[in-house]
Amino acid sequence: MHARAVAATASALLGLVALLLPIPGARADHEAGRPAVIAHRGASSLAPENTLAAVDRARRLGFTWVENDVQRTRDGVLVVLHDAGLARTTDVERVFPGRAPWRVRDFTAAEIARLDAGSWFGRRFAGVRVPTLRQYLARVERNRQSLLLEIKNPELYPGIGRQVLRELGRAGWLDRRHLSRLVVQSFHVPTIRSVHRLRPAVRTAVLGSPTIAELRTYARFTDQINPQHLKLTVGYVAAVQRLRGPHGRPVEVCAWTVDRPIDALLAAGYGVDCLITNRPDVVRRALSVFWTSP
Ligand code: G3P
Ligand code: CA
Repeated sequence: MHARAVAATASALLGLVALLLPIPGARADHEAGRPAVIAHRGASSLAPENTLAAVDRARRLGFTWVENDVQRTRDGVLVVLHDAGLARTTDVERVFPGRAPWRVRDFTAAEIARLDAGSWFGRRFAGVRVPTLRQYLARVERNRQSLLLEIKNPELYPGIGRQVLRELGRAGWLDRRHLSRLVVQSFHVPTIRSVHRLRPAVRTAVLGSPTIAELRTYARFTDQINPQHLKLTVGYVAAVQRLRGPHGRPVEVCAWTVDRPIDALLAAGYGVDCLITNRPDVVRRALSVFWTSP
């Protein structure tokens, strides 16, 4: 089929979906209830994930919120990277052939700074580096973006929650102006509980889907519950949003990783507050069926 015909068919299908789903577009104010779109690992379908290039790409597309992952090197430096290992997203196997299994925590910051974290994604990204958290925070600040920061694999890095807070504070991200632009999240509930205890003003998110019975306890220390999108139901989203979080506002739901238009429309129909996506441009276009402004 001709590409334009495919696009027209897809668009017609989305229109049909729009008619069938309980989308909040039925509200009088069509802008109300529009989920925020968060660029997952930066705009990671368009630039190498968790790099400054991916954050910049999100900015150029007009996305304020970026999600990124933080871990720690052997010499205690916080770096922005998703996997516990370096092999998938860098050339570490070529640069350090004798160092299998190439875990982040086995390499110093100086060693990681030598790695190419862009070529695996595309030749035009050759030479892109793994950013330190410090470099990353400076770039997000320069771009005037907001930050959903995931503490990744905290079980591997004792004390990383406290260290991340220290680094955020050092970079000026814990003042009043920045706090509205910051959420710290993790799959590891004790880490989120501890971040809340150490810095109650920081908004937090638990990744995963605790049972409805557990939600009330979670709402004491977390402002968001962020489930995998396939786990969503209308009832679950409503049960979360009925609760007040530690800052007195309804607990929010941000679903991940929502990359297909149909999934974005479904999640929006369930009433989520945000969509975390590798394809923010695609998701924004899908949502524009109901909401006109970016
Ligand atoms: O922000 C949600 C998402 O990042 C959680 O999964 O593995 O991509 O970090 P993962
Ligand atoms: Ca993540």
